[in-house]
Amino acid sequence: MAVTTQLPAAFPLGSRLDERGVLELGGCDALELAREHGTPAFVVSEDDLRARARELVAAYRARTPHAEVVFAAKAFPCTAVLRVFAEEGLGCDVASGGELALALAAGMEPGRIHLHGNAKSEAELRAAVDAGIGHVVVDNVADVDKLERILGAGRTQRVQLRVTPDVWGETHAAVSTGQADSKFGVALDQAPALIARLRASDSLELVGLHFHVGSQLLDVTPYLRAVEATAALGDFPVVNVGGGLGVTYTDERPPTVEEYVAAKVDAVERFHGPGRTIVDEPGRALVANSTVTLYTVESVKRNVSTWVAVDGGMSDNLRPMLYGARYEVHVVDRFGPGDTVCHVAGKHCESGDVLARDVVLADPRPGDVLVTPATGAYGHSMASNYNGVPRPPVVFVKDGSSRVVVRRETYEDLLARDV
Ligand code: LLP
Repeated sequence: MAVTTQLPAAFPLGSRLDERGVLELGGCDALELAREHGTPAFVVSEDDLRARARELVAAYRARTPHAEVVFAAKAFPCTAVLRVFAEEGLGCDVASGGELALALAAGMEPGRIHLHGNAKSEAELRAAVDAGIGHVVVDNVADVDKLERILGAGRTQRVQLRVTPDVWGETHAAVSTGQADSKFGVALDQAPALIARLRASDSLELVGLHFHVGSQLLDVTPYLRAVEATAALGDFPVVNVGGGLGVTYTDERPPTVEEYVAAKVDAVERFHGPGRTIVDEPGRALVANSTVTLYTVESVKRNVSTWVAVDGGMSDNLRPMLYGARYEVHVVDRFGPGDTVCHVAGKHCESGDVLARDVVLADPRPGDVLVTPATGAYGHSMASNYNGVPRPPVVFVKDGSSRVVVRRETYEDLLARDV
């Protein structure tokens, strides 16, 4: 059989097919990884994480001395991943008390943490203030009431104000956030009143504006429109332009990091003025392509279609079901060109549990190890125990060795909260 030697762009940097045509990740044989760690498993290339963080930081450094790259922890809320980014000098944004706890446990410097949320509890805000986090991103009036209560007289907190720029980014409706009718942020016409209140506050120091247009954006135009739309709100030292850079899952062509950074920096300089600190909040772009999921085929069935059923599914990757997201699938030791058009289904008890439709595999059979690339963003983070399935481990690979950074869940874990 002809063996493809070129790996698709969705795979982690440094992946390759070895002389036998077997996938190698971070110098580790994918079949051996599956044997050693079991499947399903998230396999993360540590070098890929670092390379993408460095590329983004370098692109900002090349254009402005005033930029902060803050990883959106929701994309891969795992202490080992957060620790890598802390080591690379990044900050992080957290969207809950739980993500804050993970960031602190990872050794993220509190001053580099930003807290988000459209429904922050008083306990979450108190934990953030007590930890000394850099910025709270105020989303609504209730945030201000709660923060002033928590801070009382004598304590202060730096805040950004999240505004809704009334910009629609071309992406799935579930991950578009900049439109006027959004649950996030303060409407442009209501922002001036809240800005005035924050400027008059003794305990809150308003340092900047925040907006986030949406996620998996494949075009830079929405950023420009959002930056422009917010410029009239006043003069702020910090302009937080959110995240959103799209990635390649199959055949998408996202902007390059340079194009993305240039668009954001140029727009801020043009509309908000020079010398601003630009905060970028990438999630997906830093982690999606660092990771693959390994599965084992449990059964192959032929009826109207060919159904290849694996040992995971919607409990480790909800994205195809929630957003119609498309993924590549390959047999790790028989990369294409395949001959069997099939649907790769999960093991869960519903028909919607299909990871990839109409993929072409090379004669898939029970026992084969399959790989789906680009599962680092929002895979581990949205995993569940549906059908009592233990969540997969997270395994780092680098220079030919692997280490488990999050172990596989056990049946004991499933019982651990029973009282
Ligand atoms: N900043 C804010 C305020 C956000 O809400 C988000 C993502 C980000 C930054 C990071 O966006 P990114 O660079 O990753 O596009 N579960 C969905 C994605 C939800 C995104 C939520 N907010 C998915 O799997 O596609």
